[in-house]
Amino acid sequence: MSEIFYVTTAIAYPNGRPHMGHALEIIEADAIARFQRLMGKHVTFQTGTDEHGSKNWEAAKKAGKPIMEFLNENVAVFKDLYRKLSISTTHFIRTSDKPKHYIGVQTLWKKLMAAGDIYKKNYSGLYCVGCESFKTEKELIEGRCPVHPTREMQTIEEENYFFRLSKYKDELSEIISTDRYRIIPKIRKNEILSFLKQANDISFSRPKKSLPWGIPVPDDDEHVMYVWCDALSNYITGVGYGRDEQEFNSTWPCDVHVVGKDILRFHAAFWPAMLISGGVELPKKLFVHGFVTLYGRKMSKSEGIVIDPSDQLQKFGVDVFRFCLLSSMPIDGDGDYSEEAVITKTNNELVANLTNFCYRTLSFLKKNCRGSFTEIDADKNLSAQILALAKKAENNFQNFNFKESIKALLDISSLGNKYFQDREPWKLIKEDTIRSTKILGTCINIAKIISIIVQPVMPDFSEKLQRQLGLKNLCWNDINFKTTNHTINDAQIIINRINAEELNQKPVFPLDLRVAKITDIKLHPDAEKLYIETIDYGDNTSQIVSGLVPYYKPEELLGKHVIVVTNLKKAKLRGVESYGMLLAAGDEQTVIVLEAPNSAPGSRIQLEGYEIGSARITIDDFAKVALTVKNKNVVYQDIVLKTDVENIFAAAPDGFKIS
Ligand code: MSP
Repeated sequence: MSEIFYVTTAIAYPNGRPHMGHALEIIEADAIARFQRLMGKHVTFQTGTDEHGSKNWEAAKKAGKPIMEFLNENVAVFKDLYRKLSISTTHFIRTSDKPKHYIGVQTLWKKLMAAGDIYKKNYSGLYCVGCESFKTEKELIEGRCPVHPTREMQTIEEENYFFRLSKYKDELSEIISTDRYRIIPKIRKNEILSFLKQANDISFSRPKKSLPWGIPVPDDDEHVMYVWCDALSNYITGVGYGRDEQEFNSTWPCDVHVVGKDILRFHAAFWPAMLISGGVELPKKLFVHGFVTLYGRKMSKSEGIVIDPSDQLQKFGVDVFRFCLLSSMPIDGDGDYSEEAVITKTNNELVANLTNFCYRTLSFLKKNCRGSFTEIDADKNLSAQILALAKKAENNFQNFNFKESIKALLDISSLGNKYFQDREPWKLIKEDTIRSTKILGTCINIAKIISIIVQPVMPDFSEKLQRQLGLKNLCWNDINFKTTNHTINDAQIIINRINAEELNQKPVFPLDLRVAKITDIKLHPDAEKLYIETIDYGDNTSQIVSGLVPYYKPEELLGKHVIVVTNLKKAKLRGVESYGMLLAAGDEQTVIVLEAPNSAPGSRIQLEGYEIGSARITIDDFAKVALTVKNKNVVYQDIVLKTDVENIFAAAPDGFKIS
């Protein structure tokens, strides 16, 4: 049986969509899990969602949805993102999962109670719903929480249960300073040691009448547990605490909790104190990462400083996205993310260095030596340098310093490129095929080493590379120069250059729609359902024919600011030319024209995120563009059509189609 390695992430609040911080954390933990698997460990990797507390409760209320419906929807979005990020979790815990989570939490609570560490008292304090925690005046900046400056602090006065954190502060200081519970990086260790000097007892429950959404306190119907008490326990309940002793004993203690710097004290003080009080072994390590900043600024929904990780994934693909996030985080601080940096890193590091080395090696061997080699070039100096860099990558993975591991990986690839360049196998192949093939054999071994080291960072890249190399399921022990007598598969470029201009081109909305004022209207001489309208675009006039006779009297249409498709190919309707099509919402019985009453004739209709097409289109092209009514607006792919002053107005029920 291989040794078990247990890694966790913080469990996210599913009160909205996942953000870049969530993406970073789960990718870091995944890199740890994958590295440990390469080292031969049996990995338990748990993530999940933190579903109780005011934050979720208030968000569901705001969305007007029952709490579980709201949470289920958001949890599905988190899970979908993790799947797309190639995350290899083995356990997903939801704190609303009664059979899995509640029993363990209540068991732990009873243990803390029995140890005399939980007591009741009246309390008044300032509460930040963003952090789900009380704050002292000293911690606030201009009366607001520094982490959530847009949220109002709540003054809470109530009778709560308290946990005796103060009782454990000396013991904890000792445990942390001697690394029995190792806090990484050092700066966070020092921060928590200084916090522990003056740590007070912590509020541990909320009255049900203020917050009904929580796990009931055992033997007290009037209180639910404080959300952090419930949330932290996920690390043990998820692996069986209180319900499956065998699983728990074989998995716990945790090897490493991965969390962000804002929740250091919960994990480095509250949590170990709870465990000591409950007689549960302590976790071994806490890895505290910094924050992802966006274009050098703190993420903030209210200020519009947000990037949706799903959009980035779609734009750049999973390998590039994981690589760029992991390589931008220094071990002891924040790291910045920007699309410009992604493009530079991709083109310079992933393409010009890594992909180039792998592709030139594989394709050269395939083309010139039928993909086979028997021996390798014994360049002791080169192999020693590469194995030393592999060791450096290993040590950095062990210490969660992904940025440095990636540097070592890129250095290996640079050495490979230099070796290939210096030895010039393309010249040598004509004079000394054997020697040239040996050089290629060495390069294949380097590519093999790369395919292993890259696995925690870019698992998909690694799998593709190993397939091309004709190798699979390699582990860290395969980092050597022992591959000989080997045949590879076809070579393919795994990551392509990004062209910044192409990347930022917007998709095209094919309809050129404009506001037009109806200035004259006549009945068609040869068709009883058709009107011939003269329309004004501000700087010119035109004529259209439309089938509105059964639905509108001429005086009802005259003077209206309607919406016209202007780039339709000219049509003749019963002998009369029509230079466009007037848009209306309708079903079988009703037809209601679209309007923009406050917009100047000639105004163009815009669609956010889209370029407006100007190419001529046919009626069949038009039919493919699905426009519908939603809340009296007209939407395309859920985006509202508007002029520069107003949304297009449709006095029709939701779901009506536009034609
Ligand atoms: N629910 C709590 C954690 C309970 S763990 C027992 C929570 N949730 S969260 O959704 O707000 O944050 C989840 C994780 O994302 C935390 O580790 C947090 O530090 C991290 N991040 C939040 N914003 C972040 C960045 N901008 N950058 C990197 N990580 C950040 O806290």
